[in-house]
Amino acid sequence: MKIAIINGPNLNLVGVREPEVYGGQSLDAYLQELVKAYGNVEFELLQSNHEGELVDAIQRVGFSVDGIVLNAGAYTHTSVALADALRSVTSPAIEVHISNVHAREEFRHRSFIAAACRGVIAGFGLDSYRLAVEAIIKWATP
Ligand code: DQA
Repeated sequence: MKIAIINGPNLNLVGVREPEVYGGQSLDAYLQELVKAYGNVEFELLQSNHEGELVDAIQRVGFSVDGIVLNAGAYTHTSVALADALRSVTSPAIEVHISNVHAREEFRHRSFIAAACRGVIAGFGLDSYRLAVEAIIKWATP
């Protein structure tokens, strides 16, 4: 079982950045725990602040992994390129958000990538990532 977890801009600062919204734990520390908890899953973890690097990452993993967990950060609300990248590969993706984007500013209610994903998980804090991993394991287990 192979799962890629791809994180977009400013998610490297979770733990420091707006802790009242994103919590006080770093994403790095959380994902290390997640990887340990799922010893039978091969994870590929990537974070980039650059849209093109996220497109490259989706293209690179998107024909081999069982699922992509994608928190595109602010690019969620702007990026046709990420939506096209997700539609260009064969691995299904889940759009993930730490915060409940629908309870926040109106510009966060719109996602360019949701329709290119199998599902969306938002608002469960960092646990949103684990829920996405669980969903992929469920659909990828015969
Ligand atoms: C986010 C929500 C986005 O609106 C925001 O731009 C982020 C983080 C989240 O995980 O809650 O950077 O994707």
